[in-house]
Amino acid sequence: MDIDFSDMEEDAEAMAKRIDYTTEAGKVATQVRDGLKIKPGDTYSDIAGSIESKIKELGCEYAFPLNVSVNEITAHDTAGVGDSRSVTENDVVKIDIGVHKDGWIADGAITYDISGKHGKLLEAGKLALENGVSVLKAGKSTTDLGAEIEKTVKSKGFKLIDNLNGHGLERYLIHTAPDVPNYPATGGYVLQEGDIIAIEPFVTYPDKAGHVVEMDRCEIFSIGGFEPTRNTDARRMLNNIFNERKTLPFAERHYAKTPIERLAMRELLRNGSLIAYPVLREKSGGVVTQFEHTVLIEKSGAKILF
Ligand code: CO
Repeated sequence: MDIDFSDMEEDAEAMAKRIDYTTEAGKVATQVRDGLKIKPGDTYSDIAGSIESKIKELGCEYAFPLNVSVNEITAHDTAGVGDSRSVTENDVVKIDIGVHKDGWIADGAITYDISGKHGKLLEAGKLALENGVSVLKAGKSTTDLGAEIEKTVKSKGFKLIDNLNGHGLERYLIHTAPDVPNYPATGGYVLQEGDIIAIEPFVTYPDKAGHVVEMDRCEIFSIGGFEPTRNTDARRMLNNIFNERKTLPFAERHYAKTPIERLAMRELLRNGSLIAYPVLREKSGGVVTQFEHTVLIEKSGAKILF
C-alpha cells in the first residue's frame, strides 16, 4: 500500500513556509556544524547523539541520522545500537548533517582530516563545491554546475565519485528532482529563482575506481509503505515512526533499542514497510571527501542556506 500524502500536499500554509523554514533549518545546522570538534577516541555514538540532541535543543529535528562515514566509507553510515566504533588518528571523517523544520530540510556535509595526510584532497573537494556554487543563478543549468565541479576536480588532479549526485529537496523528502550531477550531463535542468538544491561532490584519488558500491550493512531506514502484518508490536512501531518521521530516514538506535523492538523492526523490513539504505563504500578502497551545501537559487546568484 502506498502512503497517502494528500493532506500533507494540501497543507498550503506549510508549503508557503518552504524558504523561511529551510533557512531556519540551515541556521541551526550551521550552528551545530560550527560547534563540532572531532578528535581521536570520539565514538560514532557520541558524535551522532550529541549533534542530534543539539539540533533538537535549537528547535528543529534531525532530517536524517547524522552520517559518520570514515575513509573509504563514503555515505550512509551512522552509529548502530551499542556501536563501539570510534574515530582514530588515521581517519578522514565525513559528517553529513540534515536538519528539518516542519519537514523543510537543510542538508550539508563537511570532511575532517584527522590524519593530516589528505590536505590536498580535502582542498580539491572543498574548492569543487565553492566553484560550483559560484556559477549558480536563475537560468543556469545543472549541466553548467556539473561542468564547473568536474573542471575544478580535474584541474587539481583528483577524481569524482561518478555515481553519487546532488539533489532537490522537498518537504519530508531528501532526494527529489532535479538530479544534480557532478559532471556536465546532457539535458540538465534549468534552475529557477526560488529553487532549493543540495550540491555534493565526492572526491577521491585519481588511481581509484571513482565509484561507490553497496555494503551488506544497513544503518539507515525510512518508511516505504504500510504493509500488512499480524505483529502488533510492528504495527505500533510503524505508526510511531510515521508520526515522528513521515518519510524521513531514521536509525535502528532511534526506534529499536530492545530485543522486542528489534524483532518488530525486522518484521517491518521483511514485509517491505521499511526501506533500508546500505552503507556505501568506494569500490577500490580510496579515501573519499564530501563537502555539501544546500542553496537557494536567486536572480543573480545562489544563497548558501547551509
Ligand atoms: Co545531500
